[in-house]
Amino acid sequence: MAELGYDGKVAIITGAGGGLGRQHALLLASRGALLVINDLGGAVDGTGSDKGAAERMVDEIKGLGGEAVADTNSVATPEGGAAIVQTALDAFGRVDIVVNNAGILRDKAFTNMSPELMNPVFDVHLKGAFHVTQPAFVKMREQGYGRIVSTSSAAGLFGNFGQTNYGAAKMGLVGFTRVLAVEGAKYNIKANAIAPLALTRMTESIMGPLGDKLDPALVSPVVAYLASEECAVSGEVYSVGGGRVARIFVGETKGFFDPALSPEHVRDHLDEIRDEQGYAVPANLAEETALFLPSFK
Ligand code: NAI
Repeated sequence: MAELGYDGKVAIITGAGGGLGRQHALLLASRGALLVINDLGGAVDGTGSDKGAAERMVDEIKGLGGEAVADTNSVATPEGGAAIVQTALDAFGRVDIVVNNAGILRDKAFTNMSPELMNPVFDVHLKGAFHVTQPAFVKMREQGYGRIVSTSSAAGLFGNFGQTNYGAAKMGLVGFTRVLAVEGAKYNIKANAIAPLALTRMTESIMGPLGDKLDPALVSPVVAYLASEECAVSGEVYSVGGGRVARIFVGETKGFFDPALSPEHVRDHLDEIRDEQGYAVPANLAEETALFLPSFK
């Protein structure tokens, strides 16, 4: 089988100055993609900025024979998102791929969570994906082609102490992805998400010995596949780290039905309601609604 290639495809990667985004950029550039390397260059908590992060990355890609332009706008505002997409249009005339990867952390146990910790995390992860993806989506729809890969997290999909802000934003990206998949379907726009696990500056203090196994470069092949023309899926979420990749999905149990449902029914049939045997994996809201129909015959 031929290798996946990206010749002439224009890819925006947010937060590509280091960590996972850097690896995604190196892989796509090595296979012919034309890149917008976006990075604000701040600290892990989102404070500060450094234009050098994106510029150094562009130099590195050019040194390896690739093509890239730097962009230092923040994804956290609508103006920033529009400017990032404009950078792609000015440099390369189109945009085929958006990788929503920029991210920050402001962890705190829930009782100490505050708007100052909540809002910037939403602004970068969830609203940031909206700010960048919407202007790109308009172009993708016009050209009848697009690939969107957003970065979710097991912290939101499964829960992790101290991350109500981050977990909610990251799970929000799953809903974002699923709706984009529905809206993009007829324009050959595919949207998927990853939940990565990798040793980066964001995780170095918590990773422990497992860190040795979690080279961020081993996350990028999944991003590259989902960003490729051959990508066969949309609206899906993949867990990836250290070379392992698996699908994460939202399933629904067969459930329990009684037309006179009472609180006691719920108590007394909880095992049946929760029974994972024979669960379904609806692809969209219509398929989920259809699961009710056999009960109503
Ligand atoms: P990182 O801190 O190395 O990379 C994040 C990048 O985003 C940084 O280069 C930063 O400057 C940039 N950034 C932050 N705010 C920005 C803004 N407003 N505009 C533009 N760029 C901005 O950390 P890492 O690990 O590479 O994270 C990449 C993504 O993966 C993040 O979304 C993170 O939440 C997610 N993730 C990482 C995991 C891991 O195990 N490393 C686990 C789950 C999710």
